[in-house]
Amino acid sequence: MSADDQKRLAGEAAAQRVEAGMVVGLGTGSTAAWFVKALAARGLSGLRCVPTSDKTADLARELGLTLSTLEDTPRIDLTVDGADEVGPGLALIKGGGAALLREKLVWEASARCIVIADAAKVVPVLGAFPLPIEVVAFGYKTTGNRIADVLLDHDIQMPARVRQADRGLVRTDGGNLIYDTKCGAIHDPVRLADDLKLITGVVEHGLFLDLADEAIIGLDSGVDVLHP
Ligand code: A5P
Repeated sequence: MSADDQKRLAGEAAAQRVEAGMVVGLGTGSTAAWFVKALAARGLSGLRCVPTSDKTADLARELGLTLSTLEDTPRIDLTVDGADEVGPGLALIKGGGAALLREKLVWEASARCIVIADAAKVVPVLGAFPLPIEVVAFGYKTTGNRIADVLLDHDIQMPARVRQADRGLVRTDGGNLIYDTKCGAIHDPVRLADDLKLITGVVEHGLFLDLADEAIIGLDSGVDVLHP
């Protein structure tokens, strides 16, 4: 079974957790897209969905889901979203799709959060996937230098690289830039998260700690459910 099949199984299982009338946070990425499709196929009444990116909003709208915003529905019942890595205690790296800021805002507004992923995303220690760090564009190079200093303090030698696309620097939906850092192994994610947040110019980072209530992992034969 391919990774995409595993993502589909996880997305479909998560869609079964949704009940009519809920306010649902919709994640971003290929796994979250499977969830959005499975949710739309259920045809539940009274759902209001808060998307975490313009891309997810487009997909949900196309499938006939009713959209809302964090401003109109500041309390979300359940958010379902993908991840780049799922570590011990359901600590996560997210942001490979550049939606980490809106994702974290929606996750933090949610009574319950389920992360969905294919089996390869489950790791014994976070850090093989480059950690995304979102920064404001103004002064991004000096912010990058300060990020490098913090990383060195965590014994992470790899330079943070600003994310590029074919047509220049990648911009998030909020107009910010992303640094990606190959940490290798993040031994103290809580301290790293705190230290990164203290840098002026850093808007958010992709460490999602103590936020996931449950993980649904797609396997070749069904799904596995993990708890923190
Ligand atoms: C989006 O910014 C990310 O947080 C995604 O949720 C993450 O990159 C997982 O993406 P896939 O489901 O496409 O692997």
